[in-house]
Amino acid sequence: MSKSIQRIGVLTGGGDCPGLNAVIRAVAKTAIHQHEIEVIGIQDGFEGLIENRTRPLDFADVSGILARGGTILGTNNKANPEKYYTGDDEQGEPIFINAVDKCLATVEAHKLDALIVIGGDGTMSCAKPLVEAGVNCIGVPKTIDNDIVGTDITFGFTTAANTATLSLDRLHSTAASHHRVMVCEVMGRNAGWLALHAGTASGADVILIPEIPFDIDKVCAFCESRMTERRGFSIIACAEGAKPQDGEQVVKRRVESSPDPIRLGGIGQLVADDIQKRTKIETRTTVLGHVLRGGPPITADRVLASQFGYHAMRLLMQGKKSRMVVMQKNDLSDVELTYAANKQRLVPTDHVLVEVGRAVKTCFGD
Ligand code: F6P
Repeated sequence: MSKSIQRIGVLTGGGDCPGLNAVIRAVAKTAIHQHEIEVIGIQDGFEGLIENRTRPLDFADVSGILARGGTILGTNNKANPEKYYTGDDEQGEPIFINAVDKCLATVEAHKLDALIVIGGDGTMSCAKPLVEAGVNCIGVPKTIDNDIVGTDITFGFTTAANTATLSLDRLHSTAASHHRVMVCEVMGRNAGWLALHAGTASGADVILIPEIPFDIDKVCAFCESRMTERRGFSIIACAEGAKPQDGEQVVKRRVESSPDPIRLGGIGQLVADDIQKRTKIETRTTVLGHVLRGGPPITADRVLASQFGYHAMRLLMQGKKSRMVVMQKNDLSDVELTYAANKQRLVPTDHVLVEVGRAVKTCFGD
């Protein structure tokens, strides 16, 4: 056991997701109660580390937050220590500085012996220069997208999939009443996990995911064939990253100051427009968007987040350095912190849920 740790910092980086507070609570309570370690909360992700915005977290600060959505520390999916946006120049071009030294100064100022960084692959990449400068960082993987390499699951995903499932369930009754096609676009970046899980759980008729590019003719033919059935309507669970076989993903906007500037979105509307135009079936679109990131974590995510937070502290106390907590085959484990950096865990096209879908006549558009 390592006795050298007296004070740690904790930050949440990247987009928020349900369960962040549960991890913060598990980390801070374990640190304070079990190891008598002081905890400093760093506000708004790496921006807080760069700008030295911190606050001490005591036991009471992290009590009563387990079930709360969002993050009490705030987060930021733009601040990258190696490329920190500080404003625009006279030509309107963004100015970036290397702010790694500013991060190190904050670590030094607060005498932090380690950092717990809770975030996605972008957050783990942002931690890399700090690790190289000698700061011990332990990562905890979060994202509703479930696309982090090295872990079978990230906290936040199950809650988001559950929210999407309940939304798709609701679309079923209105689709059936009006004999419409309902396209429901869900987040997930380049991975189709959310659409696949929610589509499977809600019995969607069509599931479109980035990993299986679709042929719109096949989707239209499938919807048309369902119109002749007794309950003539169709529900389409469409990942924001889904793309046609002969086309590209739809980019909604670019956030140049972000480590990953691409923001996807809009494919649901394009699919709906195409279906209505080609089949003349009345078609509507619902975009769930950030609704999937909000709200309290469901039981599975509270449990997973608590385990992850506890395990992060255990790794630290075992003297491990620069590791990321993971769940592999239902066992808590750890991998190199930057193992997941610049990689994506996508849905294998022969994944069992794709097989299940095909078996029950779900159309994947291929
Ligand atoms: O990675 C989480 C996520 O919610 C993605 O599913 C989505 O593509 C992206 O973040 C949205 O980012 P922003 O909050 O910047 O719009």
